[in-house]
Amino acid sequence: QNEIYRAGVHGRTPSVPTDFATLEKRAKAKMSARGWAYIAGGAGEGRTMAANRAALDRWAIVPRMLRDTSDRNLEIELFGQTLPAPVLFSPVGAGALAHDRADIHIGHAAAELGLPYIFSNQGCAPMEDVAAEMDSVSRGAPRWFQLYWSTDDRLVRSLVSRAEQSGAAAIAVTLDTTMLGWRPQDLNLGSLPFARAEGIDQYTSDPSFWEIVAERLKDAVSEKPEVSIGAIKTLFSIAKNVPGDIRRNLTAPEPRAAVETFLDIYSRPTLSWTDIVTLRDMTSLPIVLKGVLHPDDARKAVDVGVDGIIVSNHGGRQVDGSISSADALVDVADAVEGRVKVLVDSGFYTGADVFKALALGADAVCIGRPHMYGLALAGAAGARDAVANIVAELDLTLGLSGQTDVRTLDRSVLKKV
Ligand code: FNR
Repeated sequence: QNEIYRAGVHGRTPSVPTDFATLEKRAKAKMSARGWAYIAGGAGEGRTMAANRAALDRWAIVPRMLRDTSDRNLEIELFGQTLPAPVLFSPVGAGALAHDRADIHIGHAAAELGLPYIFSNQGCAPMEDVAAEMDSVSRGAPRWFQLYWSTDDRLVRSLVSRAEQSGAAAIAVTLDTTMLGWRPQDLNLGSLPFARAEGIDQYTSDPSFWEIVAERLKDAVSEKPEVSIGAIKTLFSIAKNVPGDIRRNLTAPEPRAAVETFLDIYSRPTLSWTDIVTLRDMTSLPIVLKGVLHPDDARKAVDVGVDGIIVSNHGGRQVDGSISSADALVDVADAVEGRVKVLVDSGFYTGADVFKALALGADAVCIGRPHMYGLALAGAAGARDAVANIVAELDLTLGLSGQTDVRTLDRSVLKKV
């Protein structure tokens, strides 16, 4: 990790800024207004995003001195895989807003670092293509799949089985996005990503998606022809991988209705614990629930037999005024008592932030926006370096705090201020 630090000492400029504030500022200058609104934006007035920062700042690291920390361990074991650091790439949909080949580049970046990339269900490339790219860097490079539970179980089964075939080491089910949150920055621009089909390739590369759409097309004809047919046709016309027989009938663009049609399929508002039990029977892969914030939900997750939890408020993008990720992490880690793996994301942007998360009870930390900003600035190398910088700072923070192993950090290294 110290290579980055030493390069700086020798006057080499890094591919992306090494602090989050500058990284964010440069990415903003580079990105389109639409891309910036979607990627940087939060829900409502941005209070959850602010809370994520504030809660982390209420914990201070208390370094210990005169300890030999020259030999440090950052490695962890997670679901049978050894990772070089306790860090993962959060699933991020609609990445094409930052870069044309977003998912392919991020997969490449993650594989170079040996850290898992969680493929988004709203990826801009089919997971098979991303997996192949990762394998070309390093065979079997770790990857997971993130699932949005569709209103149609056929699609869920198909996606899960594709993930298994693509070498996913776990399935992360996102619980907090049964509907999209109130996103003023997108709404004010009149833009949501799906309006231009960013983030639907994972679906449109799936045969069962087209089976479901074809059925809905039939229903639409009898129920509400003027709106529904236009909507579905538009969805087809903007999507890649449209089967030929359907493509022949395309006309009338009507983006708003198309978005609605897509939203109708992508996520299930009635999602319940029963569905998680169903998933347990559907796959032998470890199941991780993403978006858990309440300790009772965490206990329930343990009871239904999941393997891990990602404490997350979706980067402050779903419920404005929600509990911060760090505060929820404390509650969840205490409730779970080590029975399942606890990961966290939402607002962890530096090595010190990751250090605090581990000390508060996380086994690993997922990083979202930093890798997207790196991607926007410098493609695969930028996504890689944005995360490599965080890992390098984690390593220094560990040693300078008098600690030698990420696995043994606990709350005794912190003080609430
Ligand atoms: C996300 N997130 C997300 N989560 C998920 O489960 N599936 C998805 O498709 C997406 N898409 C997505 C797009 C964009 C642009 C962002 C910024 C976030 C949430 C993501 O996985 C993660 O929870 C947060 O990004 C973590 O917070 P930070 O690190 O961005 O603050």
